[in-house]
Amino acid sequence: MTASISDKLIAWYDKHARDLPWRHPPGSPLPVDPTWPYRVWLSEVMLQQTTVAAVKPYFAKFLAIWPTVETLAEAVDEEVMAAWAGLGYYSRARNLLKCAREVAARGGFPRTETELRKLPGLGDYTAAAIAAIAFGQRAVVVDANVERVVARVFAIEAPLPGARKAIRAAADGITPDARAGDFAQAMMDLGAQTCTTRRPRCLLCPLREDCRAFATGEPERLPVKPPK
Ligand code: ADE
Repeated sequence: MTASISDKLIAWYDKHARDLPWRHPPGSPLPVDPTWPYRVWLSEVMLQQTTVAAVKPYFAKFLAIWPTVETLAEAVDEEVMAAWAGLGYYSRARNLLKCAREVAARGGFPRTETELRKLPGLGDYTAAAIAAIAFGQRAVVVDANVERVVARVFAIEAPLPGARKAIRAAADGITPDARAGDFAQAMMDLGAQTCTTRRPRCLLCPLREDCRAFATGEPERLPVKPPK
């Protein structure tokens, strides 16, 4: 039997996962530590519109000052805004506090994508990412990196943003039930480091043989940008 796309990607992630401060080692059981969902949520909110390199020091600072969602819920607003200074998109910091207070009041993070989606500052992507990474729920996690990988593997030729529906359906089709968080983060890593916008490193890609865009010889053509 040939391995599925998700099997190949997970095997690749086991070897090549980036070591990031908000991650647990690939393949290990989800941490039982009650601060685990808090750390996943904090990292995902910070990573909206911001690079991994820029987020790292802020993630460390926030955890040092507010190690739990309960401590963050009790923070003084101005102190949180000051600690956020430099990360940009300040509505994220205001929503962060609002969300921490709701979560602390309800006694912890909800575990499903639908319930997470109702929290302040959590869009479709973030709710799916937290459901998968923090709680191991099967969720279709699609950010710009994942979009690029999927558009290429399936040679989705329609331009963005119209292609999003097809990309999402294709992503759904390859999302496994097991190791949902590892699969999501493997797709992110592949998109960030290997399946890059320009000059993708196809020779290092575990999905090369499955990739219809690679077969065309011009993978960097996809996804097609919106017409101007
Ligand atoms: N970008 C957004 N979430 C991420 C994650 N969990 N790992 C790496 N990059 C990300």
